[in-house]
Amino acid sequence: MAEFVKEYAALTPEERAREYDAAREEWERFKASGLKLNMARGKPGKEQLDVVSGIFFRMLEHDEYLSDGEDVRNYGELAGLPSARRLFADILDCKPEQVFVGGNASLQLMYDTISKGFTHGLLHSSGPWFKEGMIRWLCPVPGYDRHFRITEDFGFEMIPVPMTPNGPNMDFVESAVKDPSVKGMWCVPKYSNPQGVIYSEETIHRLASMKTAAPDFLLMWDNAYVVHEFEGEYQPFPDMLSVCAEHGNPHRVIEFASTSKITLPGAGVSCFACSVENMTYLKRLLSVQAISFDKVNQQRHVLYLRSKQRTLDLMKEHAAILRPKFRCVEETLENKIGKLNIAKWNHPKGGYFISLDAMPGTARRALHLCHQAGVTMTAAGATYPYGLDPLDSNIRIAPSYPPIGELRKAAEILCVCLRLAALEKLEG
Ligand SMILES: Cc1ncc(COP(=O)(O)O)c(C=O)c1O
Repeated sequence: MAEFVKEYAALTPEERAREYDAAREEWERFKASGLKLNMARGKPGKEQLDVVSGIFFRMLEHDEYLSDGEDVRNYGELAGLPSARRLFADILDCKPEQVFVGGNASLQLMYDTISKGFTHGLLHSSGPWFKEGMIRWLCPVPGYDRHFRITEDFGFEMIPVPMTPNGPNMDFVESAVKDPSVKGMWCVPKYSNPQGVIYSEETIHRLASMKTAAPDFLLMWDNAYVVHEFEGEYQPFPDMLSVCAEHGNPHRVIEFASTSKITLPGAGVSCFACSVENMTYLKRLLSVQAISFDKVNQQRHVLYLRSKQRTLDLMKEHAAILRPKFRCVEETLENKIGKLNIAKWNHPKGGYFISLDAMPGTARRALHLCHQAGVTMTAAGATYPYGLDPLDSNIRIAPSYPPIGELRKAAEILCVCLRLAALEKLEG
């Protein structure tokens, strides 16, 4: 098909009808070919898993049962192996005593932190949050659906915060935190999910220094993509624990990370990092629920990853696989719909997603058409609290999982569906 070059809004009714018929025919053809493609979740592809499967060959040798004199096979070291704490401290640029190494999922540590606030309160809470009436939570949008599901699960009222190219809109945030019922905020500070935004220095300092009415206000600092550039060199990022301390708010932040997208999702190691006082408080609560986490897996990770530098080397191997996939999606979008003015998308250099804003009022319809044509995408609205995108516009694209041939096809189908949905909308 000859690529259409005119902006859709400028089409005459006759041109629109012709374009609709052409797009519909293309869509019917895709649909008839019985495809089953998936751009829904940010999962590493098989090639990436193959790269890191060397971790399986790292069965522990006899002399590797010991780590800093501790037998990794036994109970002990609730906060994780000292060597694993040092490794994450190296990656996050904080101190080992600020790091707690847990199980296989940072999401579980995040849920658990919120849960502890709810049932017990945090370090500076006057009591458990459940006794405080309505708790409100700041949610930069578009954002990560699983974050929103946690705060929704506890019945918090979620307040959407508009994102800017520098991070969350800080005027909005500074005004919102004057309300003492606003207890915290979700943040993905580096390569945010889904827009790939890196919070600016100014944003970081304003978050660390702002006056909050709630004394126990908490930044849930989910640094899931801390070493995850696929384009260009590693970008060092400020240690938020130090920045908060510098502004006199050392207990404001709890940072999370994991090796889910460094080694194996679901079989990696996660951590949180916080002030030493927070650590003492949280460890006391955690000691009731576990004697220790999986130190054997922690030891395998320490032996396999070794250091931040070696981890960054490994991330370059992931990048070599991911980069062409992101380029493929961006090129397809540009070639197929770049001139139609029906969508905008970002050009991330790291993380796992491309965020696309379709013509308002068309995201749901476009994704329904995708589904009918055999392409599964993250549900429309998922990037907003309660699944409600007020503009029905944002679509999260996850290019990492499918092989590149499938990915190109899936992106082409998405483009046809965006065209159809836009034409239908313009038709009124
Ligand atoms: C921002 C963000 N945080 C956390 C996770 C999940 O991390 P984990 O596997 O450590 O639970 C993801 C996965 O996509 C993510 O995008």
